Amino acid sequence: MSIQYPLIMVNFKTYSESTGANALAIARYAEQVSKEYGARIAVALQPADILRVTAAVGIPVFAQHVDAEKPGSHTGYVTPESVKEAGACGALVNHSEHRLRLDIIEDTIKRCRSLGLLTCTCANSSLVGKSLAALEPDMIAVEPPELIGSGISVSKAKPEVISESVKAIRSVSRNVRPLCGAGITTGEDVSSSIRLGAEGVLVASGVVKAKDPKAVLIDFAKALHA
Ligand code: G3P
Repeated sequence: MSIQYPLIMVNFKTYSESTGANALAIARYAEQVSKEYGARIAVALQPADILRVTAAVGIPVFAQHVDAEKPGSHTGYVTPESVKEAGACGALVNHSEHRLRLDIIEDTIKRCRSLGLLTCTCANSSLVGKSLAALEPDMIAVEPPELIGSGISVSKAKPEVISESVKAIRSVSRNVRPLCGAGITTGEDVSSSIRLGAEGVLVASGVVKAKDPKAVLIDFAKALHA
């Protein structure tokens, strides 16, 4: 599964509205909107929902986290091999709600790369984003933690974080796609993020907790090339 940009990545997190059968329902909306509007939409799922969704829809599916443990005598971890077998094409790494030590981030990116899994590494600031760019994940999503879940979009409240992050990440590596996230709920939030240089957005509650998730995805899709 190839990824194209600009990308809308919907992180389902552990919301009940996006778990189990609900995860499949929203993933189906994402596939429909992706087809109807030519928008690139990916979803990031809990481990137990990956196979259910990849078996039913043809959009890129990411794990929300993977552990760098190698196959063997380890208990209770989610290995990159397991999510790849379930049909995932990549993983989020170091999300603000699941932070990792830098050495573990490095190991995780290397393990995913060795298996052909894409990595969307998350950063809480443009400086952390710049540091992570040296590890050359496929994407870096910069998200100010205080805006996550707030409904106040990073593109409105802190547009400089987006423009500074894009510049900082690209100053280290042109191979890393800069994304942004936190508080994004409207098409205008998406289009302004793209105008500021982001090559995609990482969103969650604006879609998952919406009364009409498909309508929000359509609004986002239209905004990608506005
Ligand atoms: O992974 C994206 C997420 O952290 C942003 O959350 O609810 O502000 O879109 P939200």
